[in-house]
Amino acid sequence: MKGFFITFEGCEGSGKSTQTKLLSEYLEKKYIPYILTREPGGNVVSENIRVLIKDMKNQSMINETEILLFAAARAQHTYEKILPALNEGKIVICDRYFDSTYAYQGYARGVKLSDINNINKFSTFKLIPDVTFFLDITPTDAFLQKGAPDKDDRLEQTGIEFHEKVYAGYKELIKHNKKRIVVIPAYKRAPLEISLEIINILKKRNILGD
Ligand code: TMP
Repeated sequence: MKGFFITFEGCEGSGKSTQTKLLSEYLEKKYIPYILTREPGGNVVSENIRVLIKDMKNQSMINETEILLFAAARAQHTYEKILPALNEGKIVICDRYFDSTYAYQGYARGVKLSDINNINKFSTFKLIPDVTFFLDITPTDAFLQKGAPDKDDRLEQTGIEFHEKVYAGYKELIKHNKKRIVVIPAYKRAPLEISLEIINILKKRNILGD
């Protein structure tokens, strides 16, 4: 595979979409081939699954269903969009990937991590991000910064205790993936300053040239 796979992780309101957008704008300016995509979503099938997952009407959804829907969306997305772009030598920027499943369905919902491991391997064709940026801000601070949770989003509407567990889950993941996951402090920082830090890290790793 010739490309480079970059994922962004963090709690709701941590600024992932702003950072993925700023990084793509930088690549655009430098004429570096890339795609910007997100999970769950990124293609027709997975965007439809996204609507199903977030729908407030689906309050009765059990954990097993939820995790399989995320995995289904990921399989289609990886096969249809991410792997082809990497094979063409592009940089792939993805807003969330399998770490979200460990944090949300594993550490926060309580699905066994060994089950998640197997489901993740199956649904990603064993693809692992080259680097993952974790935007580090607690859920309480993030909601303060972002405003109230989206009332039409089933997952955002889950209580703050759930999001605290997600955050603690990410901290565990970071401990076990020190080489891959880079922690970026994100509380009360200007988006451009954060973006510059990320670009400099990628430059140091010779991903972006000078
Ligand atoms: P977002 O794109 O606004 O971050 O919404 C995606 C939501 O789905 C967010 O609440 C995190 C959640 N999620 C999981 O619970 N598990 C996953 O595997 C992924 C990719 C997202």
